[in-house]
Amino acid sequence: HIQGVIFDLDGVLTDTSEYHYQAWQKLADEEGIPFNRQANEALRGISRRASLMLIIGNRKYSELQIQEMMERKNNYYVELIENITHNNLLPGAVSLLDNLRVAGLKIAIGSASKNAHLVIEKLGIIDKLDVIADGYSVQKPKPAPDLFLFAAQQLGIAPQQCVVFEDAAAGIEAALGAGMWVVGMGQPERLGNAHIILPSLVDLTWEKLQAKFRDFAL
Ligand code: BG6
Ligand code: MG
Repeated sequence: HIQGVIFDLDGVLTDTSEYHYQAWQKLADEEGIPFNRQANEALRGISRRASLMLIIGNRKYSELQIQEMMERKNNYYVELIENITHNNLLPGAVSLLDNLRVAGLKIAIGSASKNAHLVIEKLGIIDKLDVIADGYSVQKPKPAPDLFLFAAQQLGIAPQQCVVFEDAAAGIEAALGAGMWVVGMGQPERLGNAHIILPSLVDLTWEKLQAKFRDFAL
């Protein structure tokens, strides 16, 4: 049965995915590259470099220019998150974290972001987490399973005993690839093969989550 819960950060516990989008939009505008909210859907959950590659498509840039653009986007992002606080946590997030802790589950963050520590600090939830796996933890980013496997290993829990909360197709693929249980957050279209899909974390408890997984005979 499930002993550990791994949360993606951007778009699951906090609304920072909007700031990632705004930072990429600013960069794309400066470069004269067509980009919009809809194109941004494909960028959800994937690494900084993979995101930039999708934006530039087959336009030719040198590695130096690529490095500069990644840095520029990150500077915009860091500027945008400068003033985030616990108010940027998504509804239901804190009560769920507290409820899971009381229920005796181990809790990790599994985020592709190199800014995860900064964001977690600003959100004020560091005390509610046992492990933070972020953009520095493994070489291969989502959709590879490596980041979630790393988080489970750090928690000391077998992958099959972990459940992952994800809002992105790449993250769901990664979690399934790791052999974990998956809760997809948000719009069903982008959530592929998640075992369970929820619109939000509001009113969710360990008890309700277990009931939802009962169909899978855990
Ligand atoms: C993910 C976000 O959590 O982290 C992506 O969903 C982002 O949008 C990725 O590109 C990498 O983040 P960062 O902060 O390392 O550029
Ligand atoms: Mg996400």
